Amino acid sequence: MRVGLTFDDVLLVPKFSDVKSRRDADTHTRFTRKISLAIPIVSANMDTVTESTMAIAIARLGGIGVIHRFLTVEEEVSEVLKVKRSEGVVIEDPVTLGPGDTIKEAWDIMRERGVGGIVIVEKGGKILGLLTKRDITLEDEPGRKVRKVMTPARRLITARKGVRLEQARKILHENKIEKLPLVDGGGRLAGLITSKDIMKRRQFPMATKDSKGRLRVAAAVGVKSDFLVRSEKLLGAGADALVVDIAHGHSSYAVDAVKAIKKELGDVEVVAGNVATAKGASDLIGAGADAVKVGVGSGSICVTRVVTGSGVPQLTAIMDSVAGAEGSSIPIIGDGGVRNPGDVTKALAAGASSVMIGSLFAGTEESPGPTVLRDGVRYKLTRGMASLAATVDRRVREAQSTGPKEDELIEEVIEESVPEGVEGLIPYKGRVDEVVKQLVGGLRSGMSYSGAHDFPELRAKAEFMRITSAGHKESLPHDIQRVI
Ligand code: XMP
Repeated sequence: MRVGLTFDDVLLVPKFSDVKSRRDADTHTRFTRKISLAIPIVSANMDTVTESTMAIAIARLGGIGVIHRFLTVEEEVSEVLKVKRSEGVVIEDPVTLGPGDTIKEAWDIMRERGVGGIVIVEKGGKILGLLTKRDITLEDEPGRKVRKVMTPARRLITARKGVRLEQARKILHENKIEKLPLVDGGGRLAGLITSKDIMKRRQFPMATKDSKGRLRVAAAVGVKSDFLVRSEKLLGAGADALVVDIAHGHSSYAVDAVKAIKKELGDVEVVAGNVATAKGASDLIGAGADAVKVGVGSGSICVTRVVTGSGVPQLTAIMDSVAGAEGSSIPIIGDGGVRNPGDVTKALAAGASSVMIGSLFAGTEESPGPTVLRDGVRYKLTRGMASLAATVDRRVREAQSTGPKEDELIEEVIEESVPEGVEGLIPYKGRVDEVVKQLVGGLRSGMSYSGAHDFPELRAKAEFMRITSAGHKESLPHDIQRVI
C-alpha cells in the first residue's frame, strides 16, 4: 500500500542559495497553456470566495479569480462583465443609454455594470453627451430624462479613436476630467479611456491582463444541462478561461464536457478538474484540457474523505498529477488545503504551476457576503459548495421557475442530501492584498531557502524530507505564551 502525504508531513531541505534578495525570486508562472500569471495564486470558484470584486483584486495583484457557477447564467455573465469592464487601456464598448432614458435607468445600469459614467448616444452611435455618477448623486427626480442632466456633446472633450495612451493622459490631466470618449470620423462613439484606468496601470504593474489591457478572469461551468450555453455566453462576455468544475473530475462527465466545449466553442482555454491521480490528469489532458485542477477532499470545508472514504493527501495528489501531465506542458493547479505560505512553496516545489485558494480568502473584504459580529469579533461565512446550505440554495434557485413550494423543497433536499462540505465562520482578515502579500512573501523566501531563482529551478532543486509529528510540532511556535 502506498503512503499519501500532505503539506504538513514534509519540509523542504534548505539548499545553498545565491538568491540575494526575495525580490530576485521570479514568481511568473502559467495558469493554463496560454495564460501567464505574475504570481501563482488563483481564487477559488466558491460562492463565499470569488465574484467580481475578488476577481478584480486578485487579477490586479498578478493572479486570477474564477467566478463560481452557483448563479444564473445572466448573473455569472454579469460578474465576468464587471471584471472585464473594470479597467482597460481602451474600453471598446462603453456602457451607453439614449437621451430619453431616465436617471433611474442610469442608476440601475451603473450599479449592475459597476461603472461610474455612461455615454449618451443617439441611434446610430453619435455621441450626445456624458453622464457621470457626480451628475446624478443628489438628483431627487428618478424619472427625469438623462439629456437634462448630462454634459452635452458641445461641452464634451473627446479624442479620435487610436489616440496614443500618453496623449490621452495629457488630455485628461490638462482638462481635469476623468473620462475621455473616443470618436470615429463620423462623431460616433468608438471607445472610452478613463483616468482611473491609467492610474491603475501604474498602481498595479503586475496585473494579469488580456491583449486589450483588460483584467483577466476565468469562470466556472458545470457538466450538465445548460453548460454549453453558459460557456458560450461567458466567453461572449470576455471570460479568458472556462473551468469545468466537478467534484469527481476523473469521470466521463468531465471528459465529455471538455471535449464538447473544445469542439463547439473552438479556441478556448479550458481548465478541468478535480482529480487526484496521474491517470486523472492524463485523461483530462487527453480530452483537451489546458490546465488540470487537482484536489479531492483537500479543502478546509470538505468532508468528502470522511463521507466517502475517497481522496488523496494533497502533496501526493499534486506529485502524481504532475507525473501524469509530464511531457504535455499542461499546468497543474493545486486546489485546496493551503493554510500557510509554506504550503504554496511546497505545492510549487512538487510541480504545481499555481495554487487555488478558498477559505484563506473567504475571510477578506473582497469575498461575497457581509461580515457578522459574534462576541465582539468580526467574521465572514464560508461554506463548501457541497454543504447542505449551498445545496439547498442551489436547488431553491433552480426550482424558482418550475414552481414547487420553497419549504417543501428544502425539506426534500435535507432528507435526500449527503453533504460533502461544511459551513463555518472565518475570522475577518481585512483586505485580500494583505493575505496575498504574506503568501507571496513566504513563497519568495521559500524559493530563496531552496536556492531557486524561479519555479523550474525550485522544482529541480526541491528535496522533500518526510517529518514525524514531533518534527511538525517543533515547526510550530512552542513553549511560549504567544502574544501575537
Ligand atoms: P481551501 O482549503 O482553500 O479549499 O478552502 C478550497 C477548495 O475546496 C474545494 N471544495 C470542496 N470540496 N466539498 C469538498 O469536498 C465541498 O463542499 C467543497 N467546496 C469547495 C474546492 O476544490 C475549492 O477550490
